[in-house]
Amino acid sequence: MSKTFYIETFGCQMNVHDSEKVIGTLEHEGYAQVHDETAADLILYNTCSIRDKAEQKVFHRLNEYKRMQGEGKKFAVIGCVAQQEGERIFERAPFVSIVAGSASYRNLPTMLERLEAGETRITGLDDRQTDETFDTEFTVRSNPHRGYITIIEGCDKFCAYCVVPYTRGKERSRTSASVLVEARRMADEGHTDIQLLGQNVNSWRDPSGRMSFAELLTEVGNISGIRRVRFTTSHPRDFTRDIVEAIDATPTICDHIHLPVQSGSSSVLHTMSREYTREWYLERMSWIHSAKRDISITSDMIVGFPGETDADFEQTITLLDAVRYDGVFAFKFSPRPNTPAVNMADSISDEVKNERLRILNDRQREIQREHYARHLGHNVEVMVESYNQARGQIVGRSSQNKTVNFTVPIGASEPPIGSYLPIHITRTQPNCLVGEAVAGVDPLQATHQPQPFVVLN
Ligand code: SAH
Ligand code: SF4
Ligand code: F3S
Repeated sequence: MSKTFYIETFGCQMNVHDSEKVIGTLEHEGYAQVHDETAADLILYNTCSIRDKAEQKVFHRLNEYKRMQGEGKKFAVIGCVAQQEGERIFERAPFVSIVAGSASYRNLPTMLERLEAGETRITGLDDRQTDETFDTEFTVRSNPHRGYITIIEGCDKFCAYCVVPYTRGKERSRTSASVLVEARRMADEGHTDIQLLGQNVNSWRDPSGRMSFAELLTEVGNISGIRRVRFTTSHPRDFTRDIVEAIDATPTICDHIHLPVQSGSSSVLHTMSREYTREWYLERMSWIHSAKRDISITSDMIVGFPGETDADFEQTITLLDAVRYDGVFAFKFSPRPNTPAVNMADSISDEVKNERLRILNDRQREIQREHYARHLGHNVEVMVESYNQARGQIVGRSSQNKTVNFTVPIGASEPPIGSYLPIHITRTQPNCLVGEAVAGVDPLQATHQPQPFVVLN
């Protein structure tokens, strides 16, 4: 009898990529993936704990799982909530059999053996202090064109609000040689777009001492067949000027930097333990602004951090104006277990947090409306991602990581998913660009193994 599993993933790209590795490991152990949980013998839930809402989703889903008890199903809670809550999950949901954090996934085969032997409380929580990363040859990448490589796991920064150092453990970098071997293999398999991942990707330090982060970007960008290299998330503390120089010198390194600032107020940044000031951050912005290429900049912001005054918040708004971001992800502060900020008085009411979030998003939308106009009348290269049949549009992504909705000239055929082509931008919307494929230019197919024509609804 073949064994089946269903997996659901929440959280960041690192979790998404971890799931790809978990799927590969399970398949190697003889399990087949199904996309309907009612058909699965084993249900895995890869969890996120970054904000309270994300954690609540897990327990809500576990309650739904409960209905399926007694049908012989096994349940595994993995990822950041698993690491954070540990064995308490067994108390809250006694039908769960495996609780495992990301640092222990390489022990999954043993955990599965114990599960099959009938054990009911299996934990993988103990080895966060390992120097190893979860690297497996069995990774199943769901997208044949764009693929992730985790180059650094964990976080040593301990920002006052954040669970990641507790859920993912200390920083561990992979060697440049192992990253490059994986990148070359992906290029051979047909991936043209590689995304290097890390909670703080630019804190990567080559354990073999061979190259800097900027040099690694360049090396990956020089691999034959690779057309785009992205990297996320960068931390301002470790952001060096040679990263901007590498982008300027290497066209395959995407002209986009996600550099979360969190707050525009140096005093809030200090309480957050971000270890930089507004001025320090703005200096890094000036490096990016003076690059030869038009590098898009995006950020994360937190509003309503304990003690944030109106004047502090105003500093965040003026920072938006000074930087002119291409995109901002703004969040209300959410007190998290184990973090220092949970013991600070959560002094800002939800009403004020909502109001600050609204003001920030309104201002940023206005900035984007003005700032995106620079693309009007220009050609922007996209990688084709999907077809939006309902709107009669094709959806692509620019090197700057902007969504571009476009049509093809009358009589021209739709370009294949994964191909690259220039789009003439005719219109902008708050979060995307709109245009038409440049007439007479054939889409550039994925260099190896062109993929079959896929139509998505
Ligand atoms: N390592 C990255 C961020 C990873 S977490 C960095 O340091 O920039 C992704 C984002 O979630 C953070 O940038 C932050 O804006 C947000 N976040 C993290 N903890 C939060 C909390 N307790 N409440 C609200 N937002 C939070
Ligand atoms: Fe969290 Fe700060 Fe680490 Fe980012 S740098 S993952 S915000 S502790
Ligand atoms: Fe969430 Fe863990 Fe990522 S808390 S954001 S899944 S590192």
